[in-house]
Amino acid sequence: MLRDDALKGKTIIVTGGGTGLGKSISRYLLQLGANVTICSRRQSVIDETAQELMQETGGKVLAVQCDVRNPSEIENVIAQTIEKFGKVDGLLNNSAGNFISPTERLSYKAFDTIVDIVLRGTYYFTLAIGKYWIDNKIPGVVLNISTTYATTGSGYVVPSAVAKGGALIMTKSLAGEWGKYGIRLNAIAPGPFPTKGAWDRLFPEPLMKMMDPVSRIPLKRVGEHGELANLAAFLLSDYSGFITGETITIDGGEVLMAGEFSHLENVTSEQWDDIEQSIKQANRASKKE
Ligand code: HXC
Ligand code: NAP
Repeated sequence: MLRDDALKGKTIIVTGGGTGLGKSISRYLLQLGANVTICSRRQSVIDETAQELMQETGGKVLAVQCDVRNPSEIENVIAQTIEKFGKVDGLLNNSAGNFISPTERLSYKAFDTIVDIVLRGTYYFTLAIGKYWIDNKIPGVVLNISTTYATTGSGYVVPSAVAKGGALIMTKSLAGEWGKYGIRLNAIAPGPFPTKGAWDRLFPEPLMKMMDPVSRIPLKRVGEHGELANLAAFLLSDYSGFITGETITIDGGEVLMAGEFSHLENVTSEQWDDIEQSIKQANRASKKE
């Protein structure tokens, strides 16, 4: 979507950049000329991704191990990125933990684990990078990968919904507070985009037999990684320079299906004829009263 070199000279940190959507977005940022640091808990995974993406794109990737629940590890990612690339311009908060479960089955630790990765990890990283940007007068940009249920809420993924909801309100709050430093914060709320990490934990085989995620989507398909990468690159680039505090949904219309009568797509034309007659009959009867 963006022209070649749209991110030339920019350095962007992508949390969870070794797999799934973080890897796909990192690939596109590199193709657009950015330097990218990827970080996550598993060093072997990020090392392998870094090699693959460098060979594929010719760009520069730094892989630094980091658990986003640990501030000193976050500070190390930022310090190593500055040492290698000179500065940091963007942060993509993409790391997450999640699994589907009835909430009453969760232990306290299970709830904490998800909230700590998603909410604490996001605000720790944002706080660390914000201090660095303000001290160094860098007009940086944060992009948070959220979910559509961060605003609607959703059963069976309650710790994730709580954490994504908190991160979303942080996005808006800090967009207001840090605008004076030229720092922007935005979010993307994706619908289903197939990745191994999400599918293993949210749509495992037994559940897939009961619920096909595509059936709920007006456009009748899941998202393509390239579609998300286009939007992420735009929001991390200077082309979105006047957008801040915004959340952009990219879900094929899935959230709109909450509309009270939106689920009537299986009513046939003949059935609509009957329904119309029934309503008109009621209209005539009420006029006689
Ligand atoms: C109930 C569970 C559980 C399950 C784990 N736990 N899975 N409880 N049902 N299915 C409990 C454990 O028993 C333990 O509690 C606690 O959670 C922590 O589990 P650990 O395995 O010790 O944690 P850890 O090794 O840190 O792994 C974190 C994780 C794991 C979140 C549980 O799944 C992970 O590493 N995920 C990272 C990647 C990921 O989740 N990607 C998907 C993002 S998709 P006890 O009390 O027993 O010790 C996404 C998309 C949303 O967010 C929208 C899609 C459309
Ligand atoms: P994924 O491949 O499982 O990505 C999650 C990443 O987070 C992994 O690379 C993982 O790496 C990292 N991570 C987990 N815990 C971490 C921790 N404590 N510290 C640092 N990194 C950690 O799943 P995905 O589908 O690409 O998800 C990416 C983002 O998109 C998430 O924010 C998710 O909520 C969001 N999202 C996805 C979908 C979808 O349909 N796929 C829909 C809506 C939103 P390690 O295990 O190596 O740490």
